[in-house]
Amino acid sequence: MIDLRSDTVTRPSQAMLAAMTRAETGDDVWGDDPTVLSLQARVAGEAGKEAGLFFPSGTQSNLAALMAHCGRGDEYIVGQAAHTYKYEGGGAAVLGSIQPQPLDNAEDGSIPLERVAAAIKPTDDHFARTRLFALENTIGGKVLPAAYVAEATQFAHGRGLATHLDGARVFNAAVASNQSLKAMAEGFDSMSICFSKGLGAPVGSVLVGSRALIEVAHRWRKVLGGGMRQSGVLAAACLHALDHNVARLADDHANAARLAEGLAQIDEVKVMSHATNMVFAQFPQADCAALEAWLKERGILTQMLYASRFVTHLDVSAADIDTFVAAVKAYFKR
Ligand SMILES: Cc1ncc(COP(=O)(O)O)c(C=O)c1O
Repeated sequence: MIDLRSDTVTRPSQAMLAAMTRAETGDDVWGDDPTVLSLQARVAGEAGKEAGLFFPSGTQSNLAALMAHCGRGDEYIVGQAAHTYKYEGGGAAVLGSIQPQPLDNAEDGSIPLERVAAAIKPTDDHFARTRLFALENTIGGKVLPAAYVAEATQFAHGRGLATHLDGARVFNAAVASNQSLKAMAEGFDSMSICFSKGLGAPVGSVLVGSRALIEVAHRWRKVLGGGMRQSGVLAAACLHALDHNVARLADDHANAARLAEGLAQIDEVKVMSHATNMVFAQFPQADCAALEAWLKERGILTQMLYASRFVTHLDVSAADIDTFVAAVKAYFKR
């Protein structure tokens, strides 16, 4: 199947599975799994932070970070479109007693700083205590403007807020903007990175930050049920991904551009945006279900909505993109 629904659908390659089989393991709850320790140290080093912590998922990594920054009755400022706010089951509020203060994202994914300034609560018992400003990069595939990130993180710190980056796809941002992971993490007190998206690992995220913050997150990871045992098997997949699957993200970006160009040639389709490995396009509402079924019959998995998202990844080739575009064309010509 050609699966364009998400970059989370990749299957571990034979080489990745072999690396997992070879992994040296220990008990990570006891802190002695050498492969997990090596992944944590490597990612922290590359991100220019003191320490790293391995998590089973990006959701848990983000949540532990929010809980490390904020206590009960505290508040974090976040975009309406942000994964930590919109797509993580309200975990910050449900499990962390943290009040989200969502603000509309601008078209480029940023949150205008005058909106942030107006949302910061004064010190007064009527209000939650505003503690944290959280951004996401990439967001909807878009790379946040570097100048905005620098200004926003400085602004937040100036107002006494900590900063967190949901960097589930921060390697896509780094490759697309030809910047290091360290440059992408600059200004953030914590950053969560996923290995189960474009990097092709089956599971795994790493949270990086100061040693003190990671110690607090370590406690919350345990409370959230994220303490794993011989997780070196999983960390080995992430280390393999770091060695082999970072630079090639440029291929995914090129394939997304190819997909956007292909769809743009079809009268019935309106490409709304395209950035890094994601394309958003509108299809006639009445055709969505039939088109999704038509594509599935031809071995192509999509989630066809009025506004659909297509995501490229390491299991999708340029030829697969051409097959997909040809199938969409054929549907509208039939
Ligand atoms: C931007 C972003 N952040 C966080 C996550 C959560 O990752 P996970 O599915 O590993 O919990 C996702 C998942 O798709 C995501 O897209």
